[in-house]
Amino acid sequence: MSSIRFENRVVLAPMAGLNNAEFCNKQKAAALVILGGFNADEETLKAAKKVTKRGRKEFIFDDPIDGIEEEIKNLKKSIFAVNVRSATIEGYLEAARVVADYKGIFEINAHCRQPEFLEIGCGEALLYDKKRLVNIVEKVSEITITSVKIRAGHKIDYEEICKSIFNAGAKILHVDAMIPNAGCDLILIQKLSRFGFLIGNNSFVDAKSGENFIKAGAKMVSAARAVLSKEKFFEEVLRESALLSQPVELKL
Ligand SMILES: Cc1cc2nc3c(=O)[nH]c(=O)nc-3n(C[C@H](O)[C@H](O)[C@H](O)COP(=O)(O)O)c2cc1C
Repeated sequence: MSSIRFENRVVLAPMAGLNNAEFCNKQKAAALVILGGFNADEETLKAAKKVTKRGRKEFIFDDPIDGIEEEIKNLKKSIFAVNVRSATIEGYLEAARVVADYKGIFEINAHCRQPEFLEIGCGEALLYDKKRLVNIVEKVSEITITSVKIRAGHKIDYEEICKSIFNAGAKILHVDAMIPNAGCDLILIQKLSRFGFLIGNNSFVDAKSGENFIKAGAKMVSAARAVLSKEKFFEEVLRESALLSQPVELKL
């Protein structure tokens, strides 16, 4: 059985419009960087254009798949993931084939909540359409190593969804543990970590908050906004934390 060895426990979380190759290359200390989120088909690209009109950043490429490949080519990290939304299964599969060509991890975005993407069945809309989510995970997992990024805080059966995601072939579950106006759901991280390799996410702002995810059972912990306010965020937390500095293996 093969595996991936991550040099430490810290991950750069995806940020649409920001995490291109240039940005990810700067995060040298992170054992895993996640490019994107990218839009893999015409429908998601159209939605992304609408989103930018509201002032949010998005990656808009002339050709969505070529654009994703170009970013992967410019990446200097050998261990990486690519976060993707698509309205069509074809978009997921085309993008997954490119990620597979470069031996990357494909992350299905079942997390974003911008109305323009929800309307076309993307992002967290997938949490309410288990059949479709499972079908995407199954098909993508036949092509490459798969992660699924989800968001906490919904009134859904997370254990059931989590089991289905792993049974469908995903190797990683990436969980934004945010509960609206109530901090981080570390109990959920504890529950879901029993089912497989989990990356915890949300409000990882210092060594202690990162360690809390690992102590709850997550194998790794990701940060997005903290990296925007502190360029050397990962270097700093790794210097301070022996726990976050430990290597970890993902069995495939
Ligand atoms: C500017 C920005 C863009 C984001 N874009 C994406 C995205 O494209 N895909 C995704 O799964 N999450 C996206 N996220 C969510 C982050 O990956 C992360 O889940 C969230 O910010 C909570 O983590 P944090 O507390 O470390 O910021 C984005 C977050 C920010 C701040």
